[in-house]
Amino acid sequence: MKYFIANWKANKNLRESLEWIDKFLTLQLQNDRIKVVICPPFPLLYPLKEKIKKAKNIYLGSQDISQFESGSYTGEVTAKSLQGLVDYAIIGHSERRKHFQENEGSLAKKVFLAQRYQIEPIFCIRNENDHIARTVKIVAYEPVAAIGTGKNEELSNILAMKKKLAVAGEIAFLYGGSVNKANANIYLKSSQIDGLLIGGASLDPRHFFEIIKSWSKI
Ligand code: PGA
Repeated sequence: MKYFIANWKANKNLRESLEWIDKFLTLQLQNDRIKVVICPPFPLLYPLKEKIKKAKNIYLGSQDISQFESGSYTGEVTAKSLQGLVDYAIIGHSERRKHFQENEGSLAKKVFLAQRYQIEPIFCIRNENDHIARTVKIVAYEPVAAIGTGKNEELSNILAMKKKLAVAGEIAFLYGGSVNKANANIYLKSSQIDGLLIGGASLDPRHFFEIIKSWSKI
């Protein structure tokens, strides 16, 4: 089983997201060995939820979650408000650590609250120094130099990092950073990589689909 996480980041509006999903749903995902998780901006979650109701293997995720449970935090999107809407939440993406000063303390709260509301964190780390909470079941290794640069990391380096982190057993280990249809194969072939976190290449439904298709050919 492999995860294919589409991280749209701060891209797409309502019309574009509906066009994306309509196109994606016409493509045939003939594979029980996949879990597709679409992570759009918050306001687009519900319209997509309506669209994927009958789709098999397609789930929704948020790109973040508030460190607060509820209350007077204007503008925050809480785990409670996302409960029942998403199954996953990306937590600790390096862009959030960099631009929004997320740190070990706030990230631990986010993981705790996500799980309290039955949302599975997809916890992103940049390197071995990023602390991973004990309860995390899905870890995404995303070396900063590989994100959005076209410089995807070598498989051997990713596996070395996995070893260093001692991620094993029940914990899924994903890779993200400049994954596209030309290189996805390299990672999907490895039984040690449980899936991919895909940014730029997930913005086009056909390109994203081609990445998933390369797994069904393995
Ligand atoms: P990228 O982004 O695929 O565009 O490199 C990955 C990510 O930041 O999650």
